[in-house]
Amino acid sequence: MLRKPLLSYLCVLALVLQILPGTFAGSLPSAAKSVVWGPGLKAKVVLPARYFFIQAADSDGKNFTRSPGEKTFEVKISSPTEPFSRIWIQVLDRNDGSFVVRYRMYASYTDLHIQVLLQDKDVARSPYVLQGAVYHEGCDCPEPDGKVWAEHMHCPASFPQIDSDLSLFPEVHLQSIAEEIPSRFGQRQSLCHYTVKDNKVYIKTHGEHVGFRIFMDAFLLSLTRKVRVPDLEFFVNLGDWPLEKRRPPEKLHPIFSWCGSNDTRDIVMPTYDITESVLETMGRVSLDMLSVQGSSGPGWELKSSSAIWRGRDSRRERLQLVKMARAHPDLLDAAFTNFFFFKHDESLYGPLVKHMSFFSFFKYKYQINVDGTVAAYRLPYLLAGGSVVLKQDSPYYEHFYSQLRPWQHYIPIKADLSDLLDKIRWARNHDDEVKKIALAGQEFARTYLMGDDIFCYYFRLFQEYAKRQVTEPEVREGMELVEQPTDELFPCYCYHTQAKDEL
Ligand SMILES: *[C@@H]1O[C@H](CO)[C@@H](O)[C@H](O)[C@H]1NC(C)=O
Ligand SMILES: *[C@@H]1O[C@H](CO)[C@@H](O)[C@H](O)[C@H]1NC(C)=O
Repeated sequence: MLRKPLLSYLCVLALVLQILPGTFAGSLPSAAKSVVWGPGLKAKVVLPARYFFIQAADSDGKNFTRSPGEKTFEVKISSPTEPFSRIWIQVLDRNDGSFVVRYRMYASYTDLHIQVLLQDKDVARSPYVLQGAVYHEGCDCPEPDGKVWAEHMHCPASFPQIDSDLSLFPEVHLQSIAEEIPSRFGQRQSLCHYTVKDNKVYIKTHGEHVGFRIFMDAFLLSLTRKVRVPDLEFFVNLGDWPLEKRRPPEKLHPIFSWCGSNDTRDIVMPTYDITESVLETMGRVSLDMLSVQGSSGPGWELKSSSAIWRGRDSRRERLQLVKMARAHPDLLDAAFTNFFFFKHDESLYGPLVKHMSFFSFFKYKYQINVDGTVAAYRLPYLLAGGSVVLKQDSPYYEHFYSQLRPWQHYIPIKADLSDLLDKIRWARNHDDEVKKIALAGQEFARTYLMGDDIFCYYFRLFQEYAKRQVTEPEVREGMELVEQPTDELFPCYCYHTQAKDEL
């Protein structure tokens, strides 16, 4: 009995000691010891929004693990040749002692100077000078050599998912797929037939609902502005469900889809959702892999110890989920923001709740990822937020799932959700372990799911597919050119094309 007060005293002391090193009460980061790194400091990494990181460290070189204050660092970007540069800069506090700096350029510049300041002192090796031409997203200036581009981008040599998807297609006969795919799928499905020839994009659509082609068009145009893409001819499935249900030795058709499944043999690409968010970072879209890192809510200890889910009723398990939440509000907050697919039964699954900002999800420790029509495309953002993801087992997958490990990057739950409540209870009782999984999931997202990773994935996919084409890609009858948008206000001067003209 006597030991109990002592024990709790020690616990409080331990808690204080645990918090103290992170808060650095009164201590400021050091300009000399803080670290700055990332692709946004390289002229040749052209991205819609460029980004880099700052890690705050004290004068002993010890990294901060909590925010030293949102306004600690100031970033200025300027061009010596252009006094009025059109660059939008944001410094996002990741709340863990580090920051993401992102900037979007609306014109191209030469010799960009990036200054990172801490109370007017240059941080680390600031100013960083990006020498030579620094192109903006709209600049049509492809690097002629794909190998050189991939090196600048630090693209991995291969991706396991690409290797496994393409292993089923050792040879692609373009003439036959040009005839067979539209006649097999073109009536009932919505497809785009693309040809990339001399780095120009051509398209023919099949089916009625082809609105989603805008995502693929935009991405192909963006990629071909940055690098010369091998000549290609391929089909993109614009629908939710993957299509190729045949199995070898039946003849398979190569179809690029945004979602794969255990029962189909489509070639997966990054979803239109993450693709668009990469292109529109600091543009039309507010949720992207960078903004989510700056909005990850309170630190782990201050997050609510319950699970959160919001969405629409696009799958039966989601009904199950909401029903469970109504029975166990202490463990789980799950509600519909929309009824569309199932009979609207308010008494069981209601009431509908107002839409909740995605960023508010991160007030909770446990994020639930349950399939919708297919895989729920929010997973990359959920992983990046710093909460832990409880992911339903599912036959559906996105391009990166094969690199994700259960118990390392997320907590697995059964397809029928029967163990969900137990897993939440388990998580509550294993907080340190669960926090580690949350951090590993976040690290995964930061390493594999950023804008440059998405560009690399598509590029490697196109390169590998191109190697398998046994005939020349052609601009087929009925195809039209997908034109690059023209920017009359900020035309760019492209050194690559100049070099070619001079030859
Ligand atoms: C501090 O953080 C930087 C950036 O993540 C890392 O490279 C470095 O190893 C860390 N330093 C220490 C002492 O942990
Ligand atoms: C789908 O395949 C993956 C990888 O082989 C497996 O882990 C998962 O359990 C499968 N899920 C379903 C529901 O078929």
